[in-house]
Amino acid sequence: MASNKMWYTLALGFLLPFSYAHTDFFTSIGHMTDLINTEKDLVISLKDYIKAEESKLEQIKKWAEKLDKLTDTATKDPEGFLGHPVNAFKLMKRLNTEWGELESLVLKDMSDGFISNMTIQRQFFPNDEDQTGAAKALLRLQDTYNLDTDTLSRGNLPGVKHKSFLTAEDCFELGKIAYTEADYYHTELWMEQALKQLDEGEVSSADKVYILDYLSYAVYQQGDLSKAMMLTKRLLELDPEHQRANGNMKYFEYIMAKEKEANKSSTDAEDQTEKETEVKKKDYLPERRKYEMLCRGEGLKMTPRRQKRLFCRYYDGNRNPRYILGPVKQEDEWDKPRIVRFLDIISDEEIETVKELAKPRLSRATVHDPETGKLTTAHYRVSKSAWLSGYESPVVSRINTRIQDLTGLDVSTAEELQVANYGVGGQYEPHFDFARKDEPDAFKELGTGNRIATWLFYMSDVSAGGATVFPEVGASVWPKKGTAVFWYNLFPSGEGDYSTRHAACPVLVGNKWVSNKWLHERGQEFRRPCTLSELE
Ligand code: OGA
Ligand code: FE2
Repeated sequence: MASNKMWYTLALGFLLPFSYAHTDFFTSIGHMTDLINTEKDLVISLKDYIKAEESKLEQIKKWAEKLDKLTDTATKDPEGFLGHPVNAFKLMKRLNTEWGELESLVLKDMSDGFISNMTIQRQFFPNDEDQTGAAKALLRLQDTYNLDTDTLSRGNLPGVKHKSFLTAEDCFELGKIAYTEADYYHTELWMEQALKQLDEGEVSSADKVYILDYLSYAVYQQGDLSKAMMLTKRLLELDPEHQRANGNMKYFEYIMAKEKEANKSSTDAEDQTEKETEVKKKDYLPERRKYEMLCRGEGLKMTPRRQKRLFCRYYDGNRNPRYILGPVKQEDEWDKPRIVRFLDIISDEEIETVKELAKPRLSRATVHDPETGKLTTAHYRVSKSAWLSGYESPVVSRINTRIQDLTGLDVSTAEELQVANYGVGGQYEPHFDFARKDEPDAFKELGTGNRIATWLFYMSDVSAGGATVFPEVGASVWPKKGTAVFWYNLFPSGEGDYSTRHAACPVLVGNKWVSNKWLHERGQEFRRPCTLSELE
């Protein structure tokens, strides 16, 4: 029996930290809420500890005051004092027992309660990986939304309810994380911000010498030699004996002199080609840049002529009996690929039900690793998700029927309803929902063919960020609670439509809930007949 019990506690002791420590806190809001409650408990326990420590100190103070008076009188007239037999007895008693008791009180550890609480809670704390993850999310948001460092540090973001700012120490920390990633661009930005806040008189334990050390290195790595030199000079003013800075200074001077020499002999022709490559660099917009521009709501490519052909209408699901008397509002979001949005298509009550069903099952979303074919987590898909079956709730089943009625597509061959939650920094970088020709096995186990179409419900508004964007065509679709968007991923021929490449932009402020249904090819043979050509 005894050994049984021991096994039980041991097993728990091992399982809890492992199952909780690696939940990737920063990927969704749910687990972060638990952390806020943990912190609240710790504060209460810390306050109890302070009270206990204060009352202990109060007792010690009283004893000191009492003895102070007593010894004052006694030392003034020791013989007279001891002439009183009670005084003599009390002196023996004090020295033999009472001082000893006081010693125990001074040594008494009042921190037991707090420390044991801390030990228990620490198992559920985020680890280094979580902290780096959260820092990287901040840097990612900074790039995607073109936020300048000062705005981010002062917490001046659009739509925030609780303003929060970064201290010089925090900025230094972010800079160091960027530095360990060899990301000298962000190292420079954040070290500079730390320095700026210190220069403005912020009281901090952050050290200018350390900051300048990192900063000058990051600046040097990016090729700005004269700025690196200026910063190193500043460092040496604060700490003239700094060994590395002294060494660097000499090195910089040597390189500068060498460059000057080389410049003298360089020709104008070389300058010309340099300028040309610079122009070329600017012209070429990689997908990443397009994606980020669309996330910021910049760069709508549609001409007014095309825009004029986008309409809104009441739609009855092609004379579906369920919608003839109460058609739904439908809006064209884009023409090619055709993306339509349904308005007021899922009620607040339905959304609450779906969220409550999904919450206990949310786990870090995975992707197919193309090399191993296994499911893994990836930095480009940061969210938590869960799958809901129509069998488990009439609400889910009703939602499935609605999708079938309004798309005219058979949902019995579709995947289950996927619910996803993106926390701050949560995103899904550009991808296709359909399987390409080179991955014919992707949906093999389902046996229902490729993902013919995507239906996506927005189950929350997002305070800032979080758009669904299509970088190939320049479309940004903004989340709006209670609406849904729908598009075909495949042409009627069965060919994949590459213009449907899309992404979920990182959430800047707030938190984003969506749910989606991927409809498959099988079952649609008479609903959306095949054609031979892409164009039909
Ligand atoms: C997806 C997806 C878009 C979004 O989950 O495949 O593209 O805005 N989601 O969440
Ligand atoms: Fe997608």
